Parts: sequence; structure tokens; C-alpha cells
Amino acid sequence: MNLRRSFILGTTALLILAGCQGTTRNARYDARTEREIERLLSQMTLAEKIGQTNQLSSYGTAEAMHDVIAEGKVGSILNEVDPYTINAMQRIAVEESRLGIPLIIGRDVIHGFRTVFPIPLGLAATFDPELVEQGARIAALEATASGVRWTFSPMLDISRDARWGRIAESSGEDTYLNKVMGTAMVRGYQGGGAGDPTCMAACAKHFVGYGAAEGGRDYNSTNIPPRQMRNVYLPPFEACIVDAGAMTLMTSFNDNDGIPATGNTHLLTDVLRKEWGFDGMVVTDWNSAGEMIAHGFADDGKDAARKAINAGVDMDMMSHTFGLNLEELIAEGKVDEGRLDDAVRNILRLKFRLGLFDDPYVDADAARDACYTEENLAAAYRSAAESAVLLRNENNTLPLDASKLRRVLVTGPLADAPYEQLGTWTFDGEASHTVTPLAALRETYGDRIAFVFEPAMATSRSRMSAAQLAAVTAKAAQCDAVLVFAGEEAILSGEAHCLADLNLQGSQSDLIAAARRSGRPVVTVIMAGRPLTVKRDLGNMDALLYSFHPGTMGGPAIADILFGKVSPSGKLPATFPVAAGQIPMHYNRNMTGRPASGTEVLLDDIVPGAGQTSLGCSSYMLDTGFAPLFPFGYGLSYTTFEYSRPELDAESYSADGTIRAACTLRNSGSRDAEEVVQLYVRDMVGSVTRPIKELKAFRRVAVPAGETVRVEIELPVAELAFWNIDMERTVEPGEFRLWMAGDSDSGEYATFHVK
Ligand code: GLC
Repeated sequence: MNLRRSFILGTTALLILAGCQGTTRNARYDARTEREIERLLSQMTLAEKIGQTNQLSSYGTAEAMHDVIAEGKVGSILNEVDPYTINAMQRIAVEESRLGIPLIIGRDVIHGFRTVFPIPLGLAATFDPELVEQGARIAALEATASGVRWTFSPMLDISRDARWGRIAESSGEDTYLNKVMGTAMVRGYQGGGAGDPTCMAACAKHFVGYGAAEGGRDYNSTNIPPRQMRNVYLPPFEACIVDAGAMTLMTSFNDNDGIPATGNTHLLTDVLRKEWGFDGMVVTDWNSAGEMIAHGFADDGKDAARKAINAGVDMDMMSHTFGLNLEELIAEGKVDEGRLDDAVRNILRLKFRLGLFDDPYVDADAARDACYTEENLAAAYRSAAESAVLLRNENNTLPLDASKLRRVLVTGPLADAPYEQLGTWTFDGEASHTVTPLAALRETYGDRIAFVFEPAMATSRSRMSAAQLAAVTAKAAQCDAVLVFAGEEAILSGEAHCLADLNLQGSQSDLIAAARRSGRPVVTVIMAGRPLTVKRDLGNMDALLYSFHPGTMGGPAIADILFGKVSPSGKLPATFPVAAGQIPMHYNRNMTGRPASGTEVLLDDIVPGAGQTSLGCSSYMLDTGFAPLFPFGYGLSYTTFEYSRPELDAESYSADGTIRAACTLRNSGSRDAEEVVQLYVRDMVGSVTRPIKELKAFRRVAVPAGETVRVEIELPVAELAFWNIDMERTVEPGEFRLWMAGDSDSGEYATFHVK
């Protein structure tokens, strides 16, 4: 049995026996490793040191990369996943290069390797970090079996703008949820950490603020002031680096307040190294060093390399500026060789931690054995089921009763689209393994129900004629219910795929309306990589289930939810706006001096000749009002839940105290179900204005039908700390409110004070 397999069995046994917390903190590299690093470094030529800082995308074969590897001109290769090719590349590095330093192979394993899980926005909707950690562990087992030992994940970009295509890849708009999901992924990817052959180094990205791109347009400038950077954007990175021990970090494309992240010394050195004590490795994003020329922040490649490495970057992904310029920059004294030595130390430390010097090879013949196992597919199914969010269910249309249905029309561009439901950033998942909703419906319920499939639209952007729409109405009228699978293809979200208009594309809205005209119950399932503005469609559907591109097992999960085998429990990780014009629209906004009351005069209510006035005006939109379509944290169930007002164990707390909050949660319906109890806090008055609510904890709770459970959450008062008017991270005394509710817009609060 090879090292890898024996370790997997051994570790699993140990973890079960010891009940370990699945510690993912890197076992602090020991002094021996540091001595090894220094010994190796002392033998390296300047060219070999520079070679380690160079990351190249695979040319496709080991032969094509033979010379650049053998001459020690590359330290890492990305986008190679064939285990035989990876072994061959490693063999060249280890056996033919002068010092035999192994490569580290990186890949965007963002939400699964071969077994594809829901996109990260969907994983966030599960509000189930244990499940997300399990999914990341499975991704690591599948990917490391092929020789991929580094993933460019978790993506920790706070995403408050659904126009930004990469919201799909994020854990949504909330800082706490991003922290929880990001650290869960790091733990899952890295497993036992240093020395674990199934450890896949995590990469906290994109550092930092990339999701605040102006206008939701990818790569655009951001303007995040220092305090908001500290209170909103940096915490997920700090948690992944300091608490979960992420081994690497990636710089982001954006310039913030005029400084490109890849050349930002304050972030990469002052904050990351000096303040957080990061001893891992920093890689640029793809050519983000070279793009500082386009930014107008560097004169040329040489200047870009100088700014990047002096800011604190260790490895250059695909700009070639390090490989082409560092020797000259050092000769000219513009880059200190000591900085290069530190970069190489960080790279070598990563390789030592991953055990690559001991054994860089994989059992290529066995690589596929790790993929698509029953356990992996079961975890993907559970993730897809828990990530689905029920947004509308008029007259309890769902769950469908199979005994009362003979014929069901299945229509829409996403009903049977195996590649599209995998979602964005799916490089290695195979559509041939996808189970689509149509396939699952027929497989599971086809013995009792005839599922009539009429795609109606080749893609989400197809246009339908009146005759085609009429045909759908007629076909639907011959059935007992209609399932419309709408949304967007995988390519319509993700990197560089931003949208100004978030309405359903093409004739999808017309298709839903055509189904409605049949008079039959209409259930819409939307698969998408982002919140879409579906207000205009809601009146034409009895039920809406939202599935953020659910991955390989999306079909069975959706089918089982539709027919009630599973009760939906997902909650929105991002606010759904009424219209794109409402954006940015996030729940943890500030109150402003003129908060909307909800009684404002709307466009259609304005009488002719209405007088001009500014009195009584508040912060809202004439056409859409103020409220979102669906708030952060929202999601229906097949049952109903009733919350009591939260009870606190004290009326006031000291800054080092712990708040013990509790509520009763009653399942007042007829079905067993799970609920995500969310704990929000509001700091009523601060030395700076404070968000109207902040998620501080959540619990996924199973409640049998008709029963009541007591939910208790302990919240250290320290979790209320924020960066205040003096840029000090502190808990300020004063009045606070605390909610325990099913979403960010409901529930009663309890009041407490911090002394
Ligand atoms: C891309 C992305 C980054 C990814 C990298 C490698 O441009 O911004 O998230 O990890 O390049 O594919």
C-alpha cells in the first residue's frame, strides 16, 4: 500500500479515535525543515532562485517543458492535471535539474475536482460549514491523487454586487459567512496539513477587495477606505491565514485607491507578514504583475517586477516579469537579494510542508480511483440539496404529490444541460457524470409519471415566437403540472462575465408566462451563478426553487426536493435586488440619516403636479422602493417555523464576557425540517456609524414536525469588536440589539449593554 493510502487510512483512524477537530493549522514547520531550506538556499545560484519564483501554465506535455524544468527556470506549473504528465514533469525536475527541487502543481479546484459540488455561492447557501469542509476534503483527495497539490481557493471576495460575474465564486455579501466558509474550505483542502500527502495547499484569494469593483465590472478599480477594508474585506483573509493556516495567498487584479494589490506593500508586508505573521507563500494572479503596466503603475515589465517583489510577492503567475528581470534588478540594487531569498524560502517551505521533497510522485494508475466514489457523490448530492433555496411556494404547490400526477411538462434551457449545471470554474468536472433534473425525475419518478420534455429554448438567450410559446401553453394544458428550468449557462457568470441587466435572458420570462396561461401549477427552478432580478416573473409561477449551479448531483437533489423527499433548507448568501438599479444592495448597510420607513410615495402613486419638497424625504428609489426582493439569509421550508424573542443571560456584559443567547424554535408545520437559525447584532451607537445588522453566528437545526427546540448560542463579546474612529480594533461600550431569526429581515430583538 503506498504512502498516500496508508496515510489516508492512518489519519482517518486517528481523527476518529482522537476526535480531533480536523485541525488544519499547519503543523508548524520544524527547525529541521528550516535548516534544510537554508542548506538548499545556500547552494542555489541566482538563476535557480529566480527560477523558483516563476510559475508557468502547462505547455501540455512534459517533453514540451523539458528544458525549462531541467534548467531550473520554473518553480510551479499550473493547469496540468494528467497524473502521468505530472509525474514526468516531476521526474525531470527531481532527476535532471541541478538541485532536484520538485515542482508544485497548482489548479483552480474551486468547487470540486472531478466530482463537482455547487458553486461556492451555493455552498454558502447551505450555511453548513461542516458539509463544505467535507466537500473541500473530497476535492483534495481527488485532486492530489492526480498530483495537484495546490488549489487557488477559497475565494474570499466579499460580493455585494450581483452584476459582478465572480459573485458565483464567492461566499456572498457577508463578512462572517465568508470567514466561516473560507476557513472550512481551508481545513478541508489542507486536511492534516504539513506531512499529509493528501494535503492540498489552500490559497486565500483575491487579496484584497476585488469584489468591490466599481459598477460590478470585473477588474475595475475599487475604492475601499481603510476602515471598511478592516471591518468588511480583511477579516475572512485574517481568519483563513491566522486561524485556519492557509498555506498560500493570491494577490488581486484590482487597484484600490490607486494602488494595484500586486504592488501594495502595506497589505502584503505590513498587514500580511508583520501583523498576521504569515509564513506562507504569496503568488500573483495571472499576469497581475505585468498588468501593473496597463494600470499605469509600472513603466514596464522590469518596473512591475520590482514593485511586485518589493511589495512582498513571492511567485509570479504567468507575467514572466520575474524571470526576465530579477537578475538585472538585483545587479542594479533595485531589488535586494535578501528579498529574493525570502521569497524562495517561502516557496521551498511550501514544498517541504507538502512532502514534495520526500515523494513528489503519485500512483498515476490509481488516480481515477479516488474520483466519483459513492461517498463523494453522496456529499455532492447533500451539498446540492442543502444549497437549494425555496423563494416562493404559493398554496403549498411544493412538494409535488407523485400520486396525483400522471403527466408533467418539463421545459426550459436548464432542464437537461449537464455541462451548464456544473457552473463556473469547472475545469475538471465531466458533464458525462452529471445527473440533470430531467434524468433524475425520469429515473426516480418516471415509473409513475410521464415527464414530457420540451426544451423550448436551446439556450437561456434564445428567442421564441408567439407560435412557439402558444405550443408550450397547449402542451402544458395536456399535463398536470409544469416544471420550468430557467436561469443562465455556466459561462454567463464567473470571471469577466458581468451583466448590467439581471433579468432572465431571452424568452425565459415569456416561457414562464406561457406555462402560466395553461392554468396548470407552474414550478420554476432557476439555476444561476448569481442573484437574478425575477420580480417580474414571480406572478407567473406558483413556486420558485433557486439552485446556484448545483454541480454533478444537482438533478437528484432538485428532483427529491420537488417531490418532498428532502425539505429545502438553503438560505440566501446574497441579497436579491428588485432591479439592478438598486445595487449595491446588502443587508448589513448603514442606517443613514434618513432611513426609509417603507411608507414612501412610489412612482405610480405620484399625482400630477405634485409639489416639490425635500421634507420627509428618505433614502429609497421611486420606482423600486427600498426593500430588496429577497433579503440576505432568506429561504422557505416545507414547514413553518416560529421563533420566540431571544433571551439573554444578562442585561449587560463586560468586553471580555460571553453572551449566552437562546430562543425557542417551533416547527409549526407537518413536516420534519432543518432551519438555519441566524444570530444578528446591531451596535446602536458607535464612534463611527455602524451597520444596521451584522451576522455573528448561525446554527443549522433539525426540528421534527410539531416539536419545539431550544437553540442556545454563546457569543464572545469580543466578536463585537470593530475598527473605530481611531482605527483601533475594539468593543465600544453602549447599547446593542440581538436577533435570532430565519433571515436578516425578520424576528424580534433583545437589548443588552456592553459596559
Ligand atoms: C484567474 C483568476 C484566478 C485564478 C487564476 C489561475 O485569472 O483570477 O482566480 O486562480 O487566474 O487560473
